[in-house]
Amino acid sequence: LIDGTNLPTIGYNAHPITLKEALANGKFGTVYQAVDGHNRQVAVKVFSMQDRSSWQIEKDVYSLPQMEHDNILKYLGAERKGEGLGLEFWIITEYHPNGSLHEYLKSHTVTWNNLLKIIQGIGLGLAHLHEEIPARENKDAKPSVAHRDFKSKNVLLGNNFRACIADFGLALVFYPNTTCGDAHGQVGTRRYMAPEVLEGAINFTRDSFLKIDMYACGLVLWELVSRCSYNEIPCDEYSLPFENEVGPNPTIEDMQDIVAQQKKRPHIKDSWLKHPGMALIVSTMQDCWDQEAEARISAETICERINSLKLNNDS
Ligand code: ADE
Repeated sequence: LIDGTNLPTIGYNAHPITLKEALANGKFGTVYQAVDGHNRQVAVKVFSMQDRSSWQIEKDVYSLPQMEHDNILKYLGAERKGEGLGLEFWIITEYHPNGSLHEYLKSHTVTWNNLLKIIQGIGLGLAHLHEEIPARENKDAKPSVAHRDFKSKNVLLGNNFRACIADFGLALVFYPNTTCGDAHGQVGTRRYMAPEVLEGAINFTRDSFLKIDMYACGLVLWELVSRCSYNEIPCDEYSLPFENEVGPNPTIEDMQDIVAQQKKRPHIKDSWLKHPGMALIVSTMQDCWDQEAEARISAETICERINSLKLNNDS
């Protein structure tokens, strides 16, 4: 734990922010729980000089027109702090006491209704991120964005199981009528990489990047379903996707072998298929992680499937 009293404060809309406790260490920087000058809780992600380009990308993505959405982490601002070798780059967002979906699932199971709620939030958030929205009223158009590091650690859980997608430091923005330039193909977290990413065989088009996010989304749906307790059937302990197959720190070669060559996917339990609603969620996750990128469903299709389940549930 880091003692907040010894930490510096900065100007933030003319009000200082005080870092309190370190919450998570990511690939790029550390996330702190913090309080702003109005004594509101916020989260601050601190990037070092060498991770500055991730800070710039994340700041640019959060600042896109029409980016705000209930299922995208709420952005409050970005700052440069300090000087010389101590120069730091901060991203300030809303704070969610429940932390990430990954942390939550390690110590909690989810009910059937909350499972639907979380999946719906993920679907809506990803659909919003992926969608191009035309200019309207006094707002500019929102370009399509691919996340490129979608995983359960990058989904935060708000009140009432509201899923919020976070961590845009690797995102790619697709401005209409431009090609995606020098985009580098093999980025993200190895465990969640789609087969075509592992094989270095992606087309550098918008659609192929969106399908890569959908593959990772299928794995997150599996993490959720494997922790869902319904009909009083006990569920398994939490495990990361492919943890049984490749352990906690897989290499690219481990993942290539399992996912690209052997075409393995996380295990689906027979008991899940006995529940008609759960069987639809299972086919939805399988439609997300199809070996063929073109065959994968979109985030909107996830939302449509969840809506059909809710309608059946309510009637
Ligand atoms: N972990 C990473 N970002 C967070 C946030 N905004 N709130 C709570 N926990 C987090």
